[in-house]
Amino acid sequence: MPNSNKTFLRALAGETLPVPPIWLMRQAGRYLPEYRATRGEAGSFLDLCYNPDLACEVTLQPLRRYDFDAAILFSDILVIPQALGQHLAFKQGEGPQLEAIRDASGLGKLSVDGIHDTLGPIYETVSKLSDAIPDHTALIGFAGGPWTVATYMVEGKGSKDFANIRRFAYGDPKGFDQLIDILVEATTQYLLKQVEAGAECIQLFETWGGVLSENGFNRWVIEPTKKIVENLRNVHPDLPIIGFPRGAGLHLIDFKTKTGVTAVGLDSGVPLKWVAENLQKLGPVQGNLDPMYVITGGDEMIAETRRILETLKNGPFIFNLGHGITPETSPENVDKLVKFIRNQS
Ligand code: CP3
Repeated sequence: MPNSNKTFLRALAGETLPVPPIWLMRQAGRYLPEYRATRGEAGSFLDLCYNPDLACEVTLQPLRRYDFDAAILFSDILVIPQALGQHLAFKQGEGPQLEAIRDASGLGKLSVDGIHDTLGPIYETVSKLSDAIPDHTALIGFAGGPWTVATYMVEGKGSKDFANIRRFAYGDPKGFDQLIDILVEATTQYLLKQVEAGAECIQLFETWGGVLSENGFNRWVIEPTKKIVENLRNVHPDLPIIGFPRGAGLHLIDFKTKTGVTAVGLDSGVPLKWVAENLQKLGPVQGNLDPMYVITGGDEMIAETRRILETLKNGPFIFNLGHGITPETSPENVDKLVKFIRNQS
């Protein structure tokens, strides 16, 4: 049985709790003045990710304010392409920029050997966190899902239509499989090191899973996720794993049953009555308040939160947002949200 102090791990083990555990995706970030100060001290965002003391500090900041039930390692999904040898930069206000790989001829520059040389500081952050977090707080490690990481590797930056990656994947599926295989291998090794360093649960962020066709979703989201889950469970049979396939819609049941993830993260668009009647019977679910409600705050935020709590209260449930918290959010609204959830009986 999981440590009974940690409600987050109890929910993942299938327990229905009177007050659900809470954490928020991107809970460490620019909406907090103390985060902005530490990032300034680090220099750049990537300097912060590779500085174990400062990355540990920003991970702890939201816990001090809100006593969340889980801490998530502070890092980014794009450290994997960087460790594989692809050039990565974050330009202030512009998001990530990578040297785009548009077809299979570009895969030669990527190498899984030696990724730990780049990623070492991140394992050190996990190990520091494992000592530093409160006893009742669980530690989440993470990585991007292979498809989502590949979108940045192929597009070279964030995208609105994902035209380049769909052209590559649909036009040369065997060539594209090679990129996904590299990512499955690197992600497996990366996550195993996080678990060795003290991560108690893993979340896979498949933020852009929803842009794929039906066959594409099976081949490049479900299959690779299943492989990563199997690889991790071969070494750690009881490791809780949360899959967050944003935009997966009607694929959610297949995603849960075929990949073997412990729990499914829900985006804000998923109908919750359907979740309670179908998906939650198969295992714990996590989500799904639209982050915009935490920006607007007020009675609407409370009403929407109440609806989520009411609908999912009869099964294992972890409260979260349907996507990451954004920089415009006021820390006071987060406080109000957390207090409201904890004061429900
Ligand atoms: O949740 C946490 O608190 C842990 C840290 C975390 C970050 N990114 C920190 C971050 C996690 C889990 C991520 C995941 C991530 N990164 C995803 C998947 C989840 C999602 O939000 O969709 C994706 C797609 C990325 C890639 C990425 N990182 C983008 C597109 C950007 C730029 C957009 C932006 O918000 O500026 C980032 C930057 C990033 N990652 C920031 C943080 C706190 C902001 C960087 C800064 O401080 O300027």
